[in-house]
Amino acid sequence: MTKGNRQSETPRASMRDIMTTAPVIPVLTIEEPEHAVPLARALVAGGLPVLEVTLRTPRALDAVSAMVRDVPDAVVGIGTVLEPEDLRQAVDAGACFAVSPGLTPMLAETAIDARIPFLPGVMTPGEAMTARAYGFRELKLFPAAQAGGMGMLKAMAGPLPDVLFCPTGGITPDAFRDYLALPNVACVGGSWLAPAHALATQDWARIQALAADAAADTQ
Ligand code: 3PG
Repeated sequence: MTKGNRQSETPRASMRDIMTTAPVIPVLTIEEPEHAVPLARALVAGGLPVLEVTLRTPRALDAVSAMVRDVPDAVVGIGTVLEPEDLRQAVDAGACFAVSPGLTPMLAETAIDARIPFLPGVMTPGEAMTARAYGFRELKLFPAAQAGGMGMLKAMAGPLPDVLFCPTGGITPDAFRDYLALPNVACVGGSWLAPAHALATQDWARIQALAADAAADTQ
């Protein structure tokens, strides 16, 4: 039995539900699995329960499993999903959702088959149209700042009014509230909530404070 079976016991939230749960999704790169639970607890305590753990470190899946097991108030997803196998591992680790930097036909088909809420990355209107053709209406604009930032999102709102975005990549603590004010933005993603130095020094109080700052005045 896998931890993924936990998901079949309760109704699954939609990607839109998850995106509207919190204004910021911390993008987490975890080197030490023992950091996972205190990190998740600090972010949840600060008011940011939706977490993306990137598949960029050897123990990322262990980190996800630990968070799912020990921090029930966290909504834990897996990011940097590149291959169908990454999606299958996300399900087995108990992840509530998955995020990719871009979309391939194989990823789209696997996400639909796996019935895991999926947030594919897009950078152009054409990529958004392809994702939309697969049925995905919730998309990550990535890398958001480099793709044109707020100007791009405003331009996408006209022809693609039914798409809701989570811009990620280059979003700063100073700018993210302006992104959230756009009608086609539900939340933003960013790595600034868990700076590498704070993780290395296990400064959970600082991470909680960063989360609380981001959550303030945005709910
Ligand atoms: C990433 O790929 O790491 C995310 O897009 C986060 O980007 P950021 O570090 O610019 O917030």
